[in-house]
Amino acid sequence: MGYKDTLKFFDFCAGIGGGRLGLENNGLECVGHSEIDVDADKTYKVFFGDKERNIGDLMTADTSAMPDFDVMVGGFPCQTFSSVGKRAGFEDERGQVIFGLMKILKEKNVPYFILENVKGFVSHDGGNSLKTVLKEFDKLGYDVSWKVLNSINFGVPQSRERIYLVGIRKDIPHKPIEWETGTDNKITLKDCLKRLHGKPVDIYNASWQNYLHKELNDGKFTEDELLEHACIIDRRNQDIRVYKDRTPTLRKGNTGLYYTHNKQLYKLNGYQALLLQGFPKEYVRKAKDNNIESGKLLEQSGNAMTVNVMTSVCKSLLNSINR
Ligand SMILES: C[S@@+](CC[C@H](N)C(=O)[O-])C[C@H]1O[C@@H](n2cnc3c(N)ncnc32)[C@H](O)[C@@H]1O
Repeated sequence: MGYKDTLKFFDFCAGIGGGRLGLENNGLECVGHSEIDVDADKTYKVFFGDKERNIGDLMTADTSAMPDFDVMVGGFPCQTFSSVGKRAGFEDERGQVIFGLMKILKEKNVPYFILENVKGFVSHDGGNSLKTVLKEFDKLGYDVSWKVLNSINFGVPQSRERIYLVGIRKDIPHKPIEWETGTDNKITLKDCLKRLHGKPVDIYNASWQNYLHKELNDGKFTEDELLEHACIIDRRNQDIRVYKDRTPTLRKGNTGLYYTHNKQLYKLNGYQALLLQGFPKEYVRKAKDNNIESGKLLEQSGNAMTVNVMTSVCKSLLNSINR
């Protein structure tokens, strides 16, 4: 590999390609991807074309049929480690994906990797899950550095804490990773919510009044105040939470996010969620032009990596290997 050669990467657990965009922003080239969710892959193809094949399930993939690549990128399934999931960890089948990724690292002798997971992975099983994974990486011959980063510090108005792990094969000369803890380049909540869709929600109807009952009765706010001052409303099982300048973490199953505009309440849609994850506007256009359904996109965006954070993490990797 010459100094000026373009680094190639393989996108595992590709979802809709938030990770891919982060690496492409640093000039890396994607040579393949792996995703088992048919709908997510449909969106991925709309975004990136179908030049390279989806190899499907990484757990059963034939590594000898994969092209060689320099960087593995992967957001391995997080439900098993997430604080909102059951926290079953490695006992759950999805928790095993990390070991599938390790097998590929070994068989393809991959020089570098960038992996992402929920913050809950750090504390899962009293820190033992992370410890186990780091020990395995060490045995495989990688120096690994990890950090919890929050998307809100990387120019998007979404609070989203995730652990990022960067691995470098020990035989490759490198400096310790220097993590950025934030970047400029802000887009505001208003920017993300500019494009309105759907009909406003009637918060005076029975269902919403039932929901708001406690807050209204406690005198926390009136309907007017809510519509005037709150920006984001997270309608949860038991209560509502109100945010002014940011959204809480978008999650696959969280379809209860609403926003106000001109004193009306609207449901957050999938196109806006893409922007909240740092996807450029042209991807919103592609999704719309290809009739990707807003509800699906909302779920897929909740699963995605924030583009801006992955851009920064990849930059840190490149700095560390002097490229
Ligand atoms: C947290 S999401 C990652 C999303 C992605 N990195 C992005 O930016 O959109 C995890 C993804 O892994 C996929 N996945 C789970 N098990 C898999 C497997 N065995 N092989 C390939 N993909 C898998 C899921 O369908 C899901 O889309």
